[in-house]
Amino acid sequence: MRHFISLFDISQQELHAILSLAEQVKTLLAEGRRPAWLARQMLALLFEKPSLRTRVSFEAGMTQLGGTVTFLGQEVGWQSRETTADFVRVIAQYADYLVCRAKSHVTVQDLASFDCIPIINGLTDVAHPCQALADLLTMQQFCGSTAGKQVTFVGDGNNVARSLALICAMVGMRFRLLGPQDYFMSDEAVGAILQRYPNADIVQSVDAAQALGGADFLYTDVWTSMGQEAEEANRRAAFAPFQVNEQLVSHAAPGCRILHCLPAHRGDEITDAVIDSPNSVVVEQAGNRMHAQKGLLIWMALQHGQLTASELENEGLQLPVGTS
Ligand code: CP
Ligand code: NVA
Repeated sequence: MRHFISLFDISQQELHAILSLAEQVKTLLAEGRRPAWLARQMLALLFEKPSLRTRVSFEAGMTQLGGTVTFLGQEVGWQSRETTADFVRVIAQYADYLVCRAKSHVTVQDLASFDCIPIINGLTDVAHPCQALADLLTMQQFCGSTAGKQVTFVGDGNNVARSLALICAMVGMRFRLLGPQDYFMSDEAVGAILQRYPNADIVQSVDAAQALGGADFLYTDVWTSMGQEAEEANRRAAFAPFQVNEQLVSHAAPGCRILHCLPAHRGDEITDAVIDSPNSVVVEQAGNRMHAQKGLLIWMALQHGQLTASELENEGLQLPVGTS
């Protein structure tokens, strides 16, 4: 059974397949076509933390594909009413896929370990792979081929940064992280990427001119992620010199596009002037969450025999290599 806990779970070819499917269903939607490829299938959404984009983009995407969703919040008593084993084996009787947003990455790995329903990571403290799919789709939208391009992530070496660094390695993009040294991605995290993708080009720096020179994209995220609220004062002090404002952006080329996974804390990690500037593509990026996840769901349905290649081809889809 295939799971999507991190981008390490898929190959480069499979990543290209998911992105190709995403682009194609995005084009179909723009033409007013919503083939019901996942009709009568159900996606369960199990969330331990708040969400707007991840929740609603999965709900909308699944609906457009003819399927349905059920949202499981605190009221289901996950991790309090019964064991994870009982919980996930029961969910697997009803639903076809399970998206989980968890406080701890281990929780999502535990769900997958039962191998009874495909698990998709909807954000953990370690990774946000669905976000990275949308980020890549967005960067492709604005620069065509991403190979040889550069994204500079400004801020915390967090879940979003790690998944972005990994997806960059998978497609031959340079990844730079600009921020305080104490919050760089760990050697272990970077080492894992380099072990799988030895040509990955990852540099972490405290020097804005160095990190932003050559950037095609500037990406930022909150200084304090969900679950880190107790560290907020220390983080605010450490990250303040790296606020993405007009002065910081001046180190990048004039056409450098601005990305943010959102939600943004305007006035902290990014100013209104930058996030609302003509170079900002944050709304398109958020929109792409849905298209990217539709590509992922279609790819997963193919992997699990819930959908056949001919059903896609009948609607004119080109089946990319890596779909089977
Ligand atoms: N970017 C993102 O994952 O947003 P939500 O937390 O609103 O889902
Ligand atoms: N790094 C942020 C991303 C939110 C989408 C967090 O984990 O809270």
